[in-house]
Amino acid sequence: MNFNTTAIHSHQAPEKEFGAVITPIYQTSTFAQQDAGVFNGYDYTRAGNPTRSVLEGVLADLEGGKWAYGFASGMGAMSTMALALFKPGDHIISGDDIYGGTFRFFTKIFAKYGVDIDFVDMANLSNIEDAIRPETKMIYLESPTNPLLKLVDLDAIIAMAQRKSILTCVDNTFASPYLQQPFDYGADIILHSTTKYIGGHSDVIGGALVVRDDEALANTIQFHQMSIGATPDPFASWLTLRGLKTLGVRMDRHSSNAMHLAQWLEQHDAIEDVIYPGLPSHPQHDLAKKQMGPRGAKGSAYGGMITLRVKGGEAEARQVLKQTKLFTLAESLGGIESLIEHPAIMTHASVDKNVRDAIGITDNLIRLSVGIEEVADLQADLDQAFAAIRQTAAC
Ligand SMILES: Cc1ncc(COP(=O)(O)O)c(C=O)c1O
Repeated sequence: MNFNTTAIHSHQAPEKEFGAVITPIYQTSTFAQQDAGVFNGYDYTRAGNPTRSVLEGVLADLEGGKWAYGFASGMGAMSTMALALFKPGDHIISGDDIYGGTFRFFTKIFAKYGVDIDFVDMANLSNIEDAIRPETKMIYLESPTNPLLKLVDLDAIIAMAQRKSILTCVDNTFASPYLQQPFDYGADIILHSTTKYIGGHSDVIGGALVVRDDEALANTIQFHQMSIGATPDPFASWLTLRGLKTLGVRMDRHSSNAMHLAQWLEQHDAIEDVIYPGLPSHPQHDLAKKQMGPRGAKGSAYGGMITLRVKGGEAEARQVLKQTKLFTLAESLGGIESLIEHPAIMTHASVDKNVRDAIGITDNLIRLSVGIEEVADLQADLDQAFAAIRQTAAC
């Protein structure tokens, strides 16, 4: 089955008892047993639940992996993976421009357990090669990165990791399985904040880990999922599953809206810089053409995230954030509605200012999550917000 068909039909045949077309919400914490220790696949919802199993099955199929595990949040997935796979003395190499919460987890929580983490600019392969040590257990990748939308070369980096028997985990939240397929390059694990494009409606928090084909790795993750308990409740699983059905259709529209806005923003006199992988001006546009887009149509869609720098500094950026009406000032991304945020003050406040400055998260940087509204309305909304900066400057 193709992507959109898989999203709607995989593991989702009508339910047997009454023929419900849509997967029921098995809103129960526990399950009756026929005899002590004898039960029908499920004994307790932390360990497993039929609604969650459907979500996990579809996610595995959409990523092209064998197993998927659902979590209560993306960070629930991340912390469970960390506890499952690493021990004191291990070393991780991570991209330097990753989601602020992941950076916080690595530096403020996980480092306490004796795991060493190096953050490197993954745009340059030799930075990764130089950081590899005998204790390196994993290369942790995010592409496109948050918030600077840098791309990492999945093919080259995963091949290098495989040569050295190092695990790779790709956070595929920004692209979603519709626009990027890390298992095609041999990644071992894919991580998602399903809160974002997969859920797609800003009404549920969730996460997932998907395993390509290593059964021992999958069993370890499943054991820790069940033992740690950062699992999604049945309703959260159901909401995520409902969102997931339209992922492909939404991603097409997010991408075409974002491409239109990025091209327009590039010509706008209030803007210093526009970062969007679909623009030829993006320093890694050639890699984006190769790596991003639906299977069989690479280079045709680049997602809904745009990062820009307004002319001026924090004051001008704050003006824009205050003035937009359709773009809601809020953290998060990937929902049907457009959001605007200021990484230095909001999502990446936990990254030290000197680190932010070094990697380019400047005070005039704004991140847009472009929704699926009518693009002309979104453009008009941004335009009136930029006009407000001009007026302030003129006063
Ligand atoms: C790329 C990325 N990974 C992981 C996370 C963490 O996900 P959650 O907020 O669902 O815990 C986020 C959240 O913004 C994210 O943007």
